[in-house]
Amino acid sequence: MGPRRWFPDALTGERVVLRRHVPENVRAFQRWYADPDVVRLTRYQDSPMRRDEIERFFAARALGTDSLAMAIHLRDTDRLIGTCALSQLDSDNGSALFHITIGEKDAWGAGYGTEATSLMLDHAFHTLGLHRIALTVFAFNERAVRSYRSVGFVVEGRAREAIWREGRWWDEIAMSVLDSDWATRHPRPARVPDVDATVAPVEAPEPPEPTVRRERRVGAVAGFLGRRR
Ligand SMILES: CC(C)(COP(=O)(O)OP(=O)(O)OC[C@H]1O[C@@H](n2cnc3c(N)ncnc32)[C@H](O)[C@@H]1OP(=O)(O)O)[C@@H](O)C(=O)NCCC(=O)NCCS
Repeated sequence: MGPRRWFPDALTGERVVLRRHVPENVRAFQRWYADPDVVRLTRYQDSPMRRDEIERFFAARALGTDSLAMAIHLRDTDRLIGTCALSQLDSDNGSALFHITIGEKDAWGAGYGTEATSLMLDHAFHTLGLHRIALTVFAFNERAVRSYRSVGFVVEGRAREAIWREGRWWDEIAMSVLDSDWATRHPRPARVPDVDATVAPVEAPEPPEPTVRRERRVGAVAGFLGRRR
């Protein structure tokens, strides 16, 4: 199997399709991350990013090899509306962080971000074999919290008064979703990822022993990290 399975060219949903970023997408990043409304929801700093910061951010986080970043396009028109990523992939523990920004404001509240999140989680759990996806979100970002909850993230903690915005302190909320949560919400026959030859194929539903699960998980993520390019 080639690298595409781990870092696919596309993940297709009903209304959005996620594609690998192309260099031209930097122009959209320049608009999105200079917009105060986007900055308010996504940055610790309350000021827009500079052009050079955005270029570096795009090179590292959208095109770079340290995260699995996908551009979010509307399926019917192919319009680019945002970006999402799994970062800090940890093969020892089967975990990663999730990030998403719908940068086009007229596309907020239409369910596109929620669908993109769902596609990424499905990829993370069913193809990469990850165990846990985590994120943080500012408490005032109600739409994001509701979106994350709706796909299965649960609140696991709060960094109290971590953000100063609009004249007051806000908590930063930590959320996560586990593979077991995902399997409960999206039951389907167990499918074994095409992992390294060192990992034994399994025909039947995944055995419950923790050691076997860990082997598969590590093999899957290590395969991803080693074969992305
Ligand atoms: C956060 C984001 C990914 C959510 O995706 P989305 O597709 O726009 O969200 P949805 O349209 O599915 O709405 C999610 C929920 O929020 C609700 N909602 C929509 N607009 C809202 C608003 N202005 N205020 C509060 N809730 C709102 C929806 O009704 C829905 O609730 P429900 O699940 O109970 O039906 C997307 O809006 C986005 O990227 N926003 C800008 C950047 C950002 O905030 N990134 C996240 C940083 S942690």
